[in-house]
Amino acid sequence: MRVLTIIPTYNEIESLPKTLQRLRAAVPDSDVLIADDNSPDGTGDYADEQAARDPRVHVLHRKGKEGLGAAYIAGFRWGLENGYDILVEMDADGSHKPEQLPLLLEASKAGADLVIGSRWVPGGSVVNWPLHRKLLSRAGSTYSRLMLGIRTRDITAGYRAFRRSTLERLDLAAVESVGYGFQVDMTFRVARLGMTIVEVPITFVEREFGASKMSGNIVFEAIANVTKWGLSARWQKLTGRG
Ligand code: GDD
Ligand code: MN
Repeated sequence: MRVLTIIPTYNEIESLPKTLQRLRAAVPDSDVLIADDNSPDGTGDYADEQAARDPRVHVLHRKGKEGLGAAYIAGFRWGLENGYDILVEMDADGSHKPEQLPLLLEASKAGADLVIGSRWVPGGSVVNWPLHRKLLSRAGSTYSRLMLGIRTRDITAGYRAFRRSTLERLDLAAVESVGYGFQVDMTFRVARLGMTIVEVPITFVEREFGASKMSGNIVFEAIANVTKWGLSARWQKLTGRG
């Protein structure tokens, strides 16, 4: 099975080199696609240099900062066009340990339509997060779970493995969310189609360098969308439509 690990980047020059090196060492069989949004700090140039030296590394240059969701959608399309069987999402900042990728791939190869590297199942954990970030993440997952009626514990998680067939069944063009909302959006779409979601415990390590790109707007977008999707699903059930 051909595996593609997609790493979206915006100003990750301090983190990407180490992450790439660790990924290539931990899972040498995975190809890598760096989806860079024209980072002013030269992350895209660094990615090009690596691609020139290593045939397994590829780069998708995007015009400007258009959000995590848009970068992943473009990466998924590239991966589907290029014939990959498993498409992985991984952050550039070291939060998703490349050494744990084999756990996700194992579950994916065993047939899970979507594998989520989960912080909030037994065995999962978060290192170096302040209490407020933990609470926000858990509250976000709990609210989404109740609102959307799905059982996933870590709905916003960004460490994932999709089987090709899963992405082919989704309407990627309809996904509009930008931040954490993108992850919830994808989870909800997979769950609604009755596909299997498997959570494997991971250790999420907060970044050492650089800054998070998540903002108040992104959190607000996620809450607003989850509320909208939840209410409209209830409305459809009530009126027997959809
Ligand atoms: N191309 C591109 N464009 N990449 C982006 C953008 C963008 O607009 N915004 C963020 N990224 C990249 C970052 O460079 C990094 O590699 C990755 O996406 C994650 O961004 P962070 O800014 O480090 O996110 P975080 O640590 O706050 O959030 C993580 O955890 C969330 C759940 O708690 C991510 O994994 C989220 O996806 C996840 O929802
Ligand atoms: Mn991060």
